[in-house]
Amino acid sequence: MAEVNDIPVGQVRAVLAENRSYVVANVGGEFLAVDNRCPHLGGPLARGKLDGAVITCPWHGWEWDLRTGRPVWPAAARDRARPVPVRVEDGGILLGLL
Ligand code: FES
Repeated sequence: MAEVNDIPVGQVRAVLAENRSYVVANVGGEFLAVDNRCPHLGGPLARGKLDGAVITCPWHGWEWDLRTGRPVWPAAARDRARPVPVRVEDGGILLGLL
């Protein structure tokens, strides 16, 4: 589990929950999460660059919308990231447990 204070606005962190690694982003105070494995070939999205709600994978530069899981670039990609429900409770970030 991560704490809200661990992830400043505009930053991402890898967070373990239920033995899975997720990338959690703070987008203007809203926390968004997807699996930390890039849908393309499994790159570590938590090491990517965040721009708004879009994260760029560090391996081949594919871009993913964290809200929808859809690719921004290349837009025609069929792969999808899987958004994970996030809830903030008492300063903690809860993932996929809603
Ligand atoms: S593994 Fe992420 S873009 Fe290829």
